[in-house]
Amino acid sequence: MQVLKTIKELQEVRKNITGTVGFVPTMGALHNGHISLIKQARNENDVVIVSIFVNPTQFLPGEDLDAYPRKDEADKKICQMCKVDYVFMPEISTMYGNEEILIKAPNKSYILEGKTRPGHFDGVLRVVLKLFNLTQATNAYFGKKDAQQLSLIMQMVKDLFLPINIIPCEIIREDDGLALSSRNIYLDATQRKDALLISKSLYMAGSLIASGERNIKAVENKLYSIMQTLDVEYVAIVDREFNELKIIEPKNTIILVVARFGNTRLLDNIWL
Ligand code: PAJ
Repeated sequence: MQVLKTIKELQEVRKNITGTVGFVPTMGALHNGHISLIKQARNENDVVIVSIFVNPTQFLPGEDLDAYPRKDEADKKICQMCKVDYVFMPEISTMYGNEEILIKAPNKSYILEGKTRPGHFDGVLRVVLKLFNLTQATNAYFGKKDAQQLSLIMQMVKDLFLPINIIPCEIIREDDGLALSSRNIYLDATQRKDALLISKSLYMAGSLIASGERNIKAVENKLYSIMQTLDVEYVAIVDREFNELKIIEPKNTIILVVARFGNTRLLDNIWL
């Protein structure tokens, strides 16, 4: 495995790759969620590139950019164990200069996550587009955990005719149901226990729908009743493109939940 730091190093390497390239963009502090993406990329491509870059443009002022967990050495070991070929770990100054051409996420990037974090998705799309251009990957792997991010990236690929396949990957959870996240380490023992109500509410909503419920309000009420002791920021029921739904449409519905535990926001969702 080779660790690449500069654009030039990455471009040199890329020039000499002839087979398929699987790319997994991350912000590091790798856990089993990231690892599942990397393993899938390993299974499906000749060469695997993982990027580890805590992207400053997707953090708003006052967010956890400085506190965001950084575990470079452990991350490199994990990548090595997963038989990654190249890890791209650029400095901020390598990725950003005095740019004037910016990418603007669509209006629907200002709902849900984008409502609490306005401009967040502009930063995500900006870095992801740069990384796609640098890696010129065949396939790029993204978790359904960040459903709105995934949907906007697919939109960007479609709108800008980017020659890359986006592969959505299943959400990896702890045995008790908590979706893995780099931010779970911020939770204390009580918060960690309370957080289980998030996945529980999603499962219960899922089974309500499986038993025939199609009414959005009824499903939302179920979610809120299970999470009544939590500080729920939003519950949303949308279609795969994040448009509002009038009724639940099986195979085209995503239920999203965000709850706050102190300063930590936990996201989870279920695809129906
Ligand atoms: P990060 O939060 O590090 O996540 C990297 C990838 O791992 C994302 O595609 C995310 O959806 C996926 N992931 C995280 N937790 C997961 C879980 N429990 N199960 C499955 N996949 C999971 O998302 C980002 O970084 C950044 O926004 C990035 C795309 C790298 C741009 O900076």
